[in-house]
Amino acid sequence: MSQTLDNVQDNKLQLMGKLTASLLHEIRNPLSAIKLNLDYLKMIEKDLPSEAIESVDVCTDAFLRIHYLIDNVLTFARKNSNYNNECSINEITRNAVDIMLPNALKKNVYIKLFPDNNLPLGYYDKSKLLQVFLNLISNAIESCETGGNIAIKTYRQDTDFVIWEIEDTGVGINDDDKDKIFQDFFTSKEKGTGLGLSVCKMLLLEYQADLYFESTLGVGTKFFIKFNPNLMQKNNEL
Ligand SMILES: Nc1ncnc2c1ncn2[C@@H]1O[C@H](COP(=O)(O)OP(=O)(O)O)[C@@H](O)[C@H]1O
Ligand SMILES: [Mg+2]
Repeated sequence: MSQTLDNVQDNKLQLMGKLTASLLHEIRNPLSAIKLNLDYLKMIEKDLPSEAIESVDVCTDAFLRIHYLIDNVLTFARKNSNYNNECSINEITRNAVDIMLPNALKKNVYIKLFPDNNLPLGYYDKSKLLQVFLNLISNAIESCETGGNIAIKTYRQDTDFVIWEIEDTGVGINDDDKDKIFQDFFTSKEKGTGLGLSVCKMLLLEYQADLYFESTLGVGTKFFIKFNPNLMQKNNEL
């Protein structure tokens, strides 16, 4: 009996997942139209009064937040595995940094990369890994309230493991929050969603990769991803 109820519940959840995904896809089109129009207004900003430009900027910020949320949910909801191709963690990291660089520079945050150029390739879904890196980089940038530095490193540990590490010189995480940051919707930010880290955790779970951190209040934070060697290329000369 309870087995049947569980099945009904599972089916409902699956259906909800599908509905959410198609709803979000539908939202994307009108949203792109809004963004195109905002971009147009930005292009002709010299003809507009300053209050209007401010409104355009507020709307663009709001657009980016919605866009980021939708991307996170869609990446998370997409079916597993079909897209797992050989890919380079370093290359995806560089893509993620390129995307986040304008945000960082706006806040006087400098990002440096320290890649191990002899890493094996991994078998991942590029867009999922990109999403994870984007979430962690954006947290690092946001933690640097008055400018700062971010270092992203890739390296091997104990021969088989590959580590992706991001260190920031941001505000750090207080002891009370350390237990909570991976909970859905936990955020300490006025405009936070509290979804970034839970999405990272779920996406990485699919690849049996660990996500953990060390943080000192007022000094900074390091997040680590420890990749599963079973999903790394074998027979690579190192
Ligand atoms: N690099 C970091 N430095 C300081 N705090 C962090 C960092 N990354 C995450 N956090 C904490 O974890 C919380 C949850 O992060 P996240 O799930 O990405 O949601 P959001 O960024 O929307 O708040 C943040 O609000 C913040 O308190
Ligand atoms: Mg976040």
